[in-house]
Amino acid sequence: MKVDIYERFWMWGATVMIVGFLTAIVIASVTQAVQPPSHMETIDPATVFTDSEFANPGVTIHDDGSVTVVVRSELYVFYPRTIRVPQGRPVTFRMTSPDVLHGFQIVGTNANATVVPGYVTEFMITFHEPGEKLIVCNEYCGLSHHLMQGTLIVEPAGAAAPSSTTEAETP
Ligand code: CUA
Repeated sequence: MKVDIYERFWMWGATVMIVGFLTAIVIASVTQAVQPPSHMETIDPATVFTDSEFANPGVTIHDDGSVTVVVRSELYVFYPRTIRVPQGRPVTFRMTSPDVLHGFQIVGTNANATVVPGYVTEFMITFHEPGEKLIVCNEYCGLSHHLMQGTLIVEPAGAAAPSSTTEAETP
């Protein structure tokens, strides 16, 4: 079979690129534990409402200044509805769903995760600018999917904050 020289060039070029990308993924997953932000920790969806962590979702500011935000994503609400976090500190989001698949996207940031029933999704982000941000569900989850949204308020670093607070909101 005769293959034109330029076609050969592109075939080999594409093959080298694919091998390069796959190698990079394998190296990153082995040496840097790079993996999707979900599927690291499991939880029985039937126990979410009685779970010690997810029954009372909210914001906890730890003594070392780090912040954990526990979010319950359910049809068609994020709890807590309004999340307040301090500017310039690492914020760990932990979330799960008692019902179906949801998305969790903080618009205008690179925080964008899928929330899967049966799993705990976790990621970390630092907000460098104060202000209010919209949180949307970006996975179709049912008839009122388009109404599923929340608010994130990044409070200026100077704002007085107690060393340890828990702000919980339950339906
Ligand atoms: Cu929840 Cu779409």
